[in-house]
Amino acid sequence: MPYLILLFALLAESTITHASVSGERIIEADNEPGSWLTHGRNYAEDRMSPLTQINKDNIKDLGLAWYFDTGTTRGLEASPLVIDGVIYTTGSWSKVFANDARTGEELWSYDPEVPRAWGVNACCDVVNRGVAAWENSIFVGTIDGRLVSLNKETGAVEWDVLTIDKERPYTITGAPRVVNGKVLIGNGGAEYGVRGYLSGYDARTGDLSWRFFTVPGHPADEHESDVMRMAAETWTGNVYHQVGGGGTAWDSMAYDHEANILYFGVGNGSPWNRHIRSPGGGDNLFLSSIVAINPDNGEYIWHYQTTPADTWDYTATQHIILADLEIKGEMRKVLMQAPKNGFFYVIDRITGELLSAENYVPVTWASHIDMKTGRPVETENADHLAETKTTSPAQFGGHNWHPMAYNAGTGLVYIPAMLNQAPYNTDTNFEYLGGSNWHMGQMADTPEMDIITSIPPGLMTAIFKRIARGKLIAWDPVQQKEVWSVMHETMWNGGVLTTASGLVFQGTGDGRFIAYDAETGKHLWESPTVTGILAPPISYSLDGDQYIALMAGWGGAGPLAMKLPGSKSAGNGRLLVYKLGGEETLPPGRERPPMPVPPAQTGTEASIAEGSVLYHQHCVYCHGAALNSDAIIADLRYMSEGSHQAFQQIVRGGILSGIGMASFAERVTEEEADAIHDYVIYASHQKWDEDQATGWWKDLRDWSYEVIADVVSRFGLM
Ligand code: HEC
Repeated sequence: MPYLILLFALLAESTITHASVSGERIIEADNEPGSWLTHGRNYAEDRMSPLTQINKDNIKDLGLAWYFDTGTTRGLEASPLVIDGVIYTTGSWSKVFANDARTGEELWSYDPEVPRAWGVNACCDVVNRGVAAWENSIFVGTIDGRLVSLNKETGAVEWDVLTIDKERPYTITGAPRVVNGKVLIGNGGAEYGVRGYLSGYDARTGDLSWRFFTVPGHPADEHESDVMRMAAETWTGNVYHQVGGGGTAWDSMAYDHEANILYFGVGNGSPWNRHIRSPGGGDNLFLSSIVAINPDNGEYIWHYQTTPADTWDYTATQHIILADLEIKGEMRKVLMQAPKNGFFYVIDRITGELLSAENYVPVTWASHIDMKTGRPVETENADHLAETKTTSPAQFGGHNWHPMAYNAGTGLVYIPAMLNQAPYNTDTNFEYLGGSNWHMGQMADTPEMDIITSIPPGLMTAIFKRIARGKLIAWDPVQQKEVWSVMHETMWNGGVLTTASGLVFQGTGDGRFIAYDAETGKHLWESPTVTGILAPPISYSLDGDQYIALMAGWGGAGPLAMKLPGSKSAGNGRLLVYKLGGEETLPPGRERPPMPVPPAQTGTEASIAEGSVLYHQHCVYCHGAALNSDAIIADLRYMSEGSHQAFQQIVRGGILSGIGMASFAERVTEEEADAIHDYVIYASHQKWDEDQATGWWKDLRDWSYEVIADVVSRFGLM
């Protein structure tokens, strides 16, 4: 008899340890504070852990408990999930890992075997922001557009469906969410030209239940719905359809289970430039909007457009948080977002009514949001049809995808913000080139570009130090004002976690994991992560120990496109897990080999100039502006003699497509590739000469860099 009881006890234990994930379980997330069941911890996506074991007094004892190598060296952006003692996370190329959350031991992994050449369609690195869980399955979206269901215990594939048209450069980087048995997933690709949408798939079968398009289809075609007819009224011309229109839903979602409303954020237009995309004007719905729909059937409920007729790449795909706030003496059910455009929005999430909006970073394109119309009031700076205008924020945004966190205790939202600016203009000779050619509608050969490519990399870094910074902002969403902030030298940093014990955690681009006092911003603790951080931390507990977990892997849009001051790129991407008394240490980062002597310059001034324009059209988003790169992907200034010799075979012959360097034969001719090579050699000499400087000459040069950088930032010249 006792054996039978024991057997029952064991069975009960096993149902607890291997319980399935249901909507109720996610809705009641606060009842199991030790778990992290969905992307933002709960459907409100507040990213506040109720756990309090790690607090302001003992945080000095926080240390690394264990780490796990993901085996890749590209960007890591995932929020891990922790369910019944297992931590589920993703790495580069949409790989999934399930590890014992106590020890880090790998239980299973899954590689969707994305063809590496598809990586050329990923504007912003082959990243993935994590998995979703439902019943006994784990779901991942892959960079080549598939949605895959895996057995939670074994990682075996249950179903694998294609969610995109493979004729178009779509990608998936976002984490799915599951609501009422529907797996929700969007996609990316608006930089190259796609038509955006969000889909709902049946979690058990993988059958498509519904699809919500975010921009209208061809003007001559029958529209899919009344909502698309309404949206079509806000577009003009034909270009948008040819290029795709954009509006990809590549990241944020949140769900109000009482109202049964799903919210998601919509991205920028294809092409970026509104004068080309919709030459007769119009708001271009639903670009840069927050859209509210019914998650059961995809039916439209309301929308709020943050940047009507966006032309700066001001996506509204940024993190959405739901909260109940007292505003003017009344409790309001709100939704909060800090999209790229620089304004912090508080919106009534039931009706879509704008309650308040203030800028959280310097903004030059609009003076304010008119509360009567709910629309931004554009300034003269917004008009870049006839001349180039330098605008804040830049396309990287005042805040990008890096998740914020809302602490109900302090009433503050912690925003991993950025200060930046960029030149915008209009390419009046715009031509749609198809495939994964960048479609921004901006000129590549501008005086600004000439400056960027003609100055030495050291000076460029000094300038970036002044004009691009990271800033962690504690924002009061009721008063709409900053309460405290911390500046970071590197612009691009990690997402944020807050805890009920009054802590705020953030990793930085310069390779530190930091904890602050949530009330005051006081720096309480930090630990070196060897490599720069993009991802947000999460927290869980097991057997009485609270853990903080964080993905460490440098990459993503900003770091691939340019060398950011102070940034650390150390190679191995890892899952780092901390606890009080943790004593593990990380191996040192990768040392960069010395730069080889560049080959003799054979190009002419004209071919180098042509090569520079072509390079900044086709290569910059992986190999870095002016080749000044962190070597997340090969730094072309460090190429070996063999690679120089094989340049044509690499660039047009596709001999490295198996490791992610697709053939550019359809985009650049042999002569053009030669011109790019001339420019690569020129930029290599620039760096080589700069590195050779020594003694008083080097001191004088570094000093004058500082002066020039100061002048540039003071007068907003770049
Ligand atoms: C979508 C990203 C992407 C783009 C865009 C891209 N590359 Fe690459 N490139 C890679 C990857 C990935 C590798 C493989 C090496 C690595 O992973 O570091 C690579 C490698 C190379 C190499 C070999 C470097 C060496 O040291 O052997 C050359 C040369 C090169 N790329 C040239 C170009 C040129 C020229 C362009 C523009 C016409 C370009 N690439 C555009 C991703 C890209």
